[in-house]
Amino acid sequence: MIRLKSPSEIATMREAGRVVARTLAAVAEAARAGVSLSELDELAADLISAAGADPSFLGYRPTWASTRYPGVLCLSVNDAIVHGIPDGRVLRDGDLLSIDCGAYVEGFHADAAITVGVGDLDDRARHLSETTRLALEEGIAAVAVGGRLSDISHAVETVARGAGYGVPPNMGGHGIGTKMHEDPHLANTGRPGRGVRLREGMVLAIEPMLIESGRDRARTARDGWTVLTGDGSRAAHWEHSVAVTGDGPVILTLP
Ligand code: MF3
Ligand code: CO
Repeated sequence: MIRLKSPSEIATMREAGRVVARTLAAVAEAARAGVSLSELDELAADLISAAGADPSFLGYRPTWASTRYPGVLCLSVNDAIVHGIPDGRVLRDGDLLSIDCGAYVEGFHADAAITVGVGDLDDRARHLSETTRLALEEGIAAVAVGGRLSDISHAVETVARGAGYGVPPNMGGHGIGTKMHEDPHLANTGRPGRGVRLREGMVLAIEPMLIESGRDRARTARDGWTVLTGDGSRAAHWEHSVAVTGDGPVILTLP
C-alpha cells in the first residue's frame, strides 16, 4: 500500500534530508587514504546525533536479511555495489567509495547516497560515477504527477545502457516515509508507461546502481549484506529521496 504524505510530513522529511545531505558531505570530505570505514561511520553517528536526528540504518532488518544492520552508513568500496558494512578496512588512493546514509526526524526517514573517489580517481571510475549521477538526474526529471512509476525506471536504464553499463537485477528504489522501505518498489529498468500513476504526496527514493563491465550480475557476500558485482568489476550508486508535487519533483536530500 502506498502512503501519501501531507505537505507538513514532507517538510519533516526535508529536515531529515538536510541532516542526511550534510552528513554525506562531511563523510565525503573525511574519506581520505589511511582512514578506516569504521572511523567514517563514527563520524556519521556523531553528526546525525548532533543534528537531533536518529540513524535509519542502525539495527534495521529488512525482510530479506537475517541479521540487523550493524552500521550507521553503508560504505561500498570498488566492486561492492551497495550495503557494504563499515569495518576496519582502510581506504586507499584510487578507491571508489559509495556512501549511503539514512536519518529520521519525528518518525520520518530520508535516504540518499553519493559515490566519491579516494584521492585521484582514474578516468573510467569517474565516468562510471558521473554516469550514475546522470541516471539519477534523469530519473528525477521523469517524475511528474500523472506519469507512471516505470517512466523513472526507463529514464535510469536509458542512461545506463547508453553508456554500456550493467544494472544489477531486482534492485532499485522504494517509497519512503515512516518506514525506510515502503511501497512501491522502483525498478531501475523497464519500459515507460507502466506501474502505478505518480500522485502528489508520493515520496520515492530513486537510486541507480551501475556496473562498469556492462554485465547485469550481482551476488551477496558472506556477511549477508554486502552486494558485490558478479564479475569483480566496479560499481557506483547515487540516491536522492524525492517528493512528487504539483510543481514537479522536490529533492528532499539536499543541504
Ligand atoms: N539506500 C539503501 C537501500 O534503500 C539503504 C539500505 S540500509 C540497510 O537499500 F540498512 F538496509 F542497509
Ligand atoms: Co534507499
